[in-house]
Amino acid sequence: MSSVPGTRSAENPPALDAERPPALGARSPRQTGQTGARSAEHPPQDVLVIGGGIIGLVTAWRAAQRGLRVAVVDPQPGGGAAQVAAGMLAAVTELHYGEETLLALNLESARRYPAFAAELAEASGQDIGHRACGTLAVALDADDRAHLRELHALHLRSGLESQWLSGRECRRLEPMLAPGVRGGLRVDGDHQVDPRRLASALVIACERAGVRFRRAWAERLSVAGDRAVGAVLDDGTEAAAEQVVLAGGSLSGRLGGVPPRVLPPVRPVKGQVVRLTVPASHAPFLSRTVRAMVRGSHVYLVPRRSGELVVGATSEEMGWDTTVTAGGVYELLRDAHELVPGITELPLTETRAGLRPCSPDNAPLLGPTDLPGLLLATGHHRNGVLLAPLTGDVMATALTCGVLPEEAGPFTPRRFSSLSQEQPV
Ligand code: GLY
Repeated sequence: MSSVPGTRSAENPPALDAERPPALGARSPRQTGQTGARSAEHPPQDVLVIGGGIIGLVTAWRAAQRGLRVAVVDPQPGGGAAQVAAGMLAAVTELHYGEETLLALNLESARRYPAFAAELAEASGQDIGHRACGTLAVALDADDRAHLRELHALHLRSGLESQWLSGRECRRLEPMLAPGVRGGLRVDGDHQVDPRRLASALVIACERAGVRFRRAWAERLSVAGDRAVGAVLDDGTEAAAEQVVLAGGSLSGRLGGVPPRVLPPVRPVKGQVVRLTVPASHAPFLSRTVRAMVRGSHVYLVPRRSGELVVGATSEEMGWDTTVTAGGVYELLRDAHELVPGITELPLTETRAGLRPCSPDNAPLLGPTDLPGLLLATGHHRNGVLLAPLTGDVMATALTCGVLPEEAGPFTPRRFSSLSQEQPV
């Protein structure tokens, strides 16, 4: 899972209507009486960030560090997909054909993670669970093995560190693996972080850096004279700002008032996740992230130092549905059990579903749009947690200097300008 900042959490999902998906600022029935006169009782900001998930928060924190006055609009900062995501930093093991440009961005963000984690821990007083544990991707049958061999070849062609291991070597590294494991890839550079800790550390760091939180939904973008100038909130107020960053995760394409030519073409891709607990008596259970393709579907197990074991994730095109289904949980546990039979003994502590914000090319939309004053930081799909350090840096540069740094150039929202005009989401 990647981050879906500013959207409603799976615990408190919006009322779902397949015909009418929620708008970014959809009102709850309780709030419908609050449509009275708008007021602008808050001082104008330099930057208004719409969406307080990991991407919105890291943008706000980095911008505030550069001296900008920043506000974040979100009813529940740090909620949304940050509460669901497993937190793999999987630039190498999640590499896909044709995504070499995205690979460069992912690797650069992974490179920045250790310093980012240390700086954020210092700024917030909270450890974000950055764990340099590495990843083992394994194959269970002949087809999985052929698929993994292809991935290994792609790794080698791309100059990535990735080592082929026999089944026996895999089990030597991770003794809990099923005896049927036929081989695997050892990728020592793919690590993990705890997205819940990351989100809560970012909220604290933002507060300490002077970021203001507006706990409301953004209802519509305010545009004056072909320039974004803030947003109208569902608490009856307006938030004025020199620049607006739309970081609303999978709901980014649904903010009212955004001209169609700059509306981000982002859609939700559902991911269901299961959390188990490894009792002290069973530790060590897994020492690193273990993942596999099981009969064509991906499954991963992410072990935390705390004993939490996150098993994820489904990938479903279901609109804004965040229902946890028996089928989704069954498939995850069935595949994880084939990989690591001992998981059936572990207590099951939580099931959740979240929404990845997916763009047409699976890559993020970063930086200025063709509407002056409006920037995007959305569409991170499977890589929101991984791309947090780099997104914060490039967005802060775009906000202070007006230009997107070179490393983020290919990810300008302008690559979709014609698409947005033809196919508003
Ligand atoms: N990056 C893991 C996921 O999106 O499920």
